[in-house]
Amino acid sequence: MADEKNDRFLRACRRQPVDTVPVWIMRQAGRYLPSYREVRKHVTFLELCRTPELAARVTLMPVEQLGVDAAILFSDILIPVEPMGIGLVFTDAGPSLDGAIRNRGDVDRLRVPTPEEDMPFVLQAVRLLRRELEGKVPLIGFAGAPLTLAAYMTEGGGSTHFTQLKRLLFADPAAAHALLDKITDTVAAYLAAQVAAGAEAVQLFDSWAGVLSPAHFDEFALPYVQRVVAAVRQAGEVPFIYFVNGIAGLLGRLRGCGADVIGFDWRVDIGEVRARLGDGVAVQGNLDPCVLLGPEALIDHEVERVLAAAGTAPGHIFNLGHGILPETPPEHARRLVEAVHRLGRRAAGQGGDGECGGQRA
Ligand code: CP3
Repeated sequence: MADEKNDRFLRACRRQPVDTVPVWIMRQAGRYLPSYREVRKHVTFLELCRTPELAARVTLMPVEQLGVDAAILFSDILIPVEPMGIGLVFTDAGPSLDGAIRNRGDVDRLRVPTPEEDMPFVLQAVRLLRRELEGKVPLIGFAGAPLTLAAYMTEGGGSTHFTQLKRLLFADPAAAHALLDKITDTVAAYLAAQVAAGAEAVQLFDSWAGVLSPAHFDEFALPYVQRVVAAVRQAGEVPFIYFVNGIAGLLGRLRGCGADVIGFDWRVDIGEVRARLGDGVAVQGNLDPCVLLGPEALIDHEVERVLAAAGTAPGHIFNLGHGILPETPPEHARRLVEAVHRLGRRAAGQGGDGECGGQRA
């Protein structure tokens, strides 16, 4: 395992055949790992994000400890909001943003940051990681989708009903579009800079897209996602993953979003999603993160179920349907990765147990 170049994640993104189904875990470097908690004893979360050596070290933990098929840069979707002009702190209750956006005047005061000047530590971490990974597994860069970042910037943090976001969307759509426009320019430049620094795939997290009606998704989310995809395409030939939490009501509109891979939550049958999206995109998901809180013996069964639903066509990347929970036993995460690799050989069309097709090194 040690010195091999593992490209099954990138191959699956491009819907090419693989030896077994690749797997990585959203939030794979996080509080469920004792080694992560140890680092966090000495620095705050934001200090960790802003120190390339530490961010790189934490990024590598799940690669070394779980054997996942991709590394994801350790950072946060909210990093760009500070250089846009909004104060940010993380408390035990989650992120808290200072000076929430309420009107056109607030939007007009926001800046569009220059990644190299305003977030150099992110790009340094990417460059450092590419050297340290030596091609063993690909590195994923990421950003928040415009609608999801707009949700945090209007609500000032997490939310249940997203009343502030929706008030802006419905009461002052021109201001809402101006906000989404600035966020889109920010995210597009930010992802392009990550690709230029060496990110080999990018994921756009739309954690709150599912709170909109389909018509409002068409109006306030999708066009901005399409703009981000187009900008990243200009920056380089890397797979683009669009993660949508709450995809069920939106399936009909995602065909034209432009992403290479659509990731989604566990409330949908992955086979039905594939049928709806067609064979022009790969899919990523979608085990319920809470399965990892159950007995370890359940994991094989649940993995098998997702693999069977996904079918054997190339282009499935196994993942959870949302981030791994802090209370997850690390050995359950390890078992998940092992189970996907073992059971995924059949799903990848490589023969059954004990007989490894061995098509690729
Ligand atoms: O996946 C990875 O391992 C890479 C790192 C990563 C983090 N956040 C680290 C993090 C990624 C890709 C994210 C994305 C992110 N951040 C999203 C999109 C995914 C999703 O969950 O929907 C969102 C919405 C955020 C915003 C955010 N950051 C919240 C709401 C919180 C607090 C609640 C929580 O789930 O932890 C964070 C904090 C955060 N981001 C932590 C980590 C490891 C915990 C911070 C700590 O150490 O105390």
